[in-house]
Amino acid sequence: MNTSSTYNVLVFDSGVGGLSVFQEIQAMLPNLNYVYVFDNEAYPYGELSPEILLARVNQIVLQHTQKHQIDLVVIACNTASTIVLPKLREQLTIPVVGVVPAIKPASLLSNDSVALIATPATITRKYTKELVRDFANGKTVEMLGSTKLVDMAEQKLRGKAVDSQELSQLLEPICNRVDVAVLGCTHFPLIKEEIGQALGKGVTLVDSGEAIARRVKALILQLEATTKPAQRPHLIYSTAPTWQEGALNNSLHKLGFSPVKIFPIQGV
Ligand code: DGL
Repeated sequence: MNTSSTYNVLVFDSGVGGLSVFQEIQAMLPNLNYVYVFDNEAYPYGELSPEILLARVNQIVLQHTQKHQIDLVVIACNTASTIVLPKLREQLTIPVVGVVPAIKPASLLSNDSVALIATPATITRKYTKELVRDFANGKTVEMLGSTKLVDMAEQKLRGKAVDSQELSQLLEPICNRVDVAVLGCTHFPLIKEEIGQALGKGVTLVDSGEAIARRVKALILQLEATTKPAQRPHLIYSTAPTWQEGALNNSLHKLGFSPVKIFPIQGV
């Protein structure tokens, strides 16, 4: 791959959480063209029915893979990945990478109990239960599902500081009970420092971002040569108008994106 031609990668989430995954991928693969798409019209995914979620993600990803000649898709959302991957892979000929809670590495690191902090939907999914059954390595996994934590990450990216007292209250059920906590929602690495402070020094935080970036790199290296032109800045689309658009665009600009454009979902 040279600087004049590159691959087009689509990164998808319900909101800004997938930007934590984008940052890990971009650090490893700085020369790709990134298109970030978020379904804010149906946010929060952690409270959406699996049927609606499946239909929406499918439709939105298909729309954008065609529009932007995408070479690889990253579903940078645990809540969506636990149900949409088989159907997407069935329909697309390009690689589709998902993100699921890092239960396995966390359990290997732990000498005590593990916490899974995720959305209300992720902690109840069959996929998650099987992940815990197969990879918890005999450790107890305490589940904490919260949309409020997801909202806090959305607010932080719009310039609002995290309320440490509120955060401590939300994390209270797992406080002093675990030595490793899995950030099982892609929004949470955006407030990792604050979560770390609330849980205390004795708790190691684990997320899936770097593992996803390594997987994307391995898949990109297997792709055939491309003639797609390298483009800057990266593109970002929402399915509905965003709140505090100006503040959000400021943060996005720092990450190398042009301002958010609206591209509504079609036919769902
Ligand atoms: N970022 C998402 C995840 O990883 C979902 C947040 C939401 O919309 O509830 O699960």
